[in-house]
Amino acid sequence: MERRKKVVVVLASAFLFLVQSLFSTTCALRRDQFPPSFLFGTSTSAYQIEGAYQEGNKSLSNWDVFTHSQGGKIKDGSNGDVAADHYHIYMEDIELMHSLGINSYRFSISWSRVLPRGRYGKINPTGIAFYNNLIDSLLLRGIEPFVTLSHYDIPQELEDRYGAWLSPKIQKDFGYFAEVCFSKFGDRVKYWSTFNEPRMMVRYGYGTGEYPPGHRNKEFIAGHNAILSHATAVEIYRKRYQVKQQGMIGIVIFMCWFEPLRNNSLDFLVARQVMSFQAAWFLDPIIHGDYPPEMRQALGSKLPTFSIKERRKLQYKLDFIGINHYTSLYVRDCTFSPCKSSRNIGESFIYTERNGIPIGKPTAMPNYYVVPYGIEEVVLYTMRRYNNTPMFITENGYAQHSNSSMTELLNDSDRVDAMRQYLTYLNNAMRKGADVRGYFVWSLMDNFEWLYGYTMRFGLHHVDYNTQKRTPKLSARWYKQFLHGVEVQHEHEQVDTI
Ligand code: NOJ
Repeated sequence: MERRKKVVVVLASAFLFLVQSLFSTTCALRRDQFPPSFLFGTSTSAYQIEGAYQEGNKSLSNWDVFTHSQGGKIKDGSNGDVAADHYHIYMEDIELMHSLGINSYRFSISWSRVLPRGRYGKINPTGIAFYNNLIDSLLLRGIEPFVTLSHYDIPQELEDRYGAWLSPKIQKDFGYFAEVCFSKFGDRVKYWSTFNEPRMMVRYGYGTGEYPPGHRNKEFIAGHNAILSHATAVEIYRKRYQVKQQGMIGIVIFMCWFEPLRNNSLDFLVARQVMSFQAAWFLDPIIHGDYPPEMRQALGSKLPTFSIKERRKLQYKLDFIGINHYTSLYVRDCTFSPCKSSRNIGESFIYTERNGIPIGKPTAMPNYYVVPYGIEEVVLYTMRRYNNTPMFITENGYAQHSNSSMTELLNDSDRVDAMRQYLTYLNNAMRKGADVRGYFVWSLMDNFEWLYGYTMRFGLHHVDYNTQKRTPKLSARWYKQFLHGVEVQHEHEQVDTI
């Protein structure tokens, strides 16, 4: 009798599992599974799409100087001088957005276009006019602007004068830049992010030296100044603009999900620690008022401390957390067990495979695998650690190799699968109570991918860099159908390559 009972239980659980897996893999995803006010958009950043690097009185940014002087560091020797030429054809790009049916567009403001010399010179009216036109044209098309202030690029002059993020002086400059943007655009912009991925900016620019300005081992002081620059901008917004303008201000953080490589407590612990090096490094001080205990424990005095004055500044916190999520990775402990890896703590013990099996489907970007459930995990982690602060998925995307055939590039069914599955798992997190308010695909169109130049493509629209012609990929068609409420099933249509 007992045995029969057991068999029934096993069969029932198998059946349930089958139904659940069928549901999560084949059930159609619908727009109306998300709230009507949910923002669905696409993301870009100034340096990656605008081009016009010397036009309209713009000064050189750190990335202009870096790509020109150290072109060798960019995989294909390229730069963002022209990029997707968005500066000249932004109206056409807004039509692409309108045709997709998105209700929001995330872009960044080029600091060196608006304030070519930081606070050491005048506001550039041509730069202001460009963003005014962009914002007005978006709103005319019913598209909400979602604006990032700092997406890696800053006027080179600030680097030359005082070493940019290494100096506390940057806090004043960033506050000034933020205030110029709030006062010029805040009557129409209701979503502000102070930074995009500050960890990437300081880790690669000041830790490993791969991004400009190429410093090493100085990431914690640069991070400290970035956190306080965020606080400076939020203080200004809260005191002088928010009541009148009724917007929200937050920060955008890059978040992978980390799985313990082995099923043991050391790896579990390290997985938590790595999450904290990645996300809590910036979010804990801003939300809880100090660096995460996991980092303090591992780094001791290498991590700066907040003075009483600085702590006071941190009181202004944020209104939302932006999450850029692309992938999940395995981690293993290397403190108590030997590892081959010799990279720094917080980054190091990362593996993409377990027993020779990759964590997900690989993409053109090394270390970016498609692991859809990871988005649910990062959202739930953020929800728990930060008391369900409102969240936006500010980036999620899929990279293709640029040297694929045009037919392959346009028929990006792998990207469609990834988007559909990530959205399904995002929806799960929301059903578990996470306050997620928007989702942005990276990217509206192919663009300059930092150290990888133009060797990979993240766009829903293909860009021919010779003619600047945009062509919608299958993923653009899929997103459009989804946003228009069409039940989108698994099968893929073909996109003509002519
Ligand atoms: C993160 C960055 O914000 C963006 O600039 C970059 O292009 C994408 N992810 C893809 O790597």
